[in-house]
Amino acid sequence: MTQQSVLFVCLGNICRSPMAEAIFNYRVQAQGLPHLSSDSAGTAAYHIGKRPDHRTLQVLEEQGISTAHRAQQIHPDHRNEFNHLIAMDRSNQQELHAFFPGHSILLFRDFDPEAKGSEVPDPYYGDIDDFREVYDILDRTMVHLIDYLKAQQ
Ligand code: 4NP
Repeated sequence: MTQQSVLFVCLGNICRSPMAEAIFNYRVQAQGLPHLSSDSAGTAAYHIGKRPDHRTLQVLEEQGISTAHRAQQIHPDHRNEFNHLIAMDRSNQQELHAFFPGHSILLFRDFDPEAKGSEVPDPYYGDIDDFREVYDILDRTMVHLIDYLKAQQ
C-alpha cells in the first residue's frame, strides 16, 4: 500500500497540532494501519525544540496517549516529505499557502461533519477545559480524516 503521510500545522506547535499528531498516530497504530503516519509543525519559531504544552500532555495522558514530540517550524523540505499538509485554522492555512505556493493545504475541520469549514480554536490563552474541547474536536474528526486517507489508496 502507498504510504500516506500527514503534517498537522498550527501556530506554535505546542498545543493543537502535536495533540492531533498524537491522536492520529495512536489511532493508526491501534487500527494496524502502518502505511499512515503523521508529524506536526508550527508556522512560528517561538517554541522550537520544546515539548508540547503541559496541558496538551495532561489531556493526552487522561486518554492514555503519549507523545515524544518536540516543536519544529515548517520547513521547505516538508513539501516533499508529506502527502498532506493540514492546517488547524484559517490563519495557519494562509501562512501555509504563502510558504508552499501552489500546494494543496487542507483545513482540518473540513473533515468534521458537525462543523465543516470551522477552525480548531487556539487554547493557548485558555484553561484545561479549552484543551479538553480541542481534544474532543480532534478526536471525533480524526476518524473521518483516517477514512479519507484509507480511500486514497
Ligand atoms: P498552538 O497554540 O498554535 O495550538 O500550538 C499556541 C501556542 C503558542 C502561542 C500561540 C498559540 N504563542 O503565542 O506562543
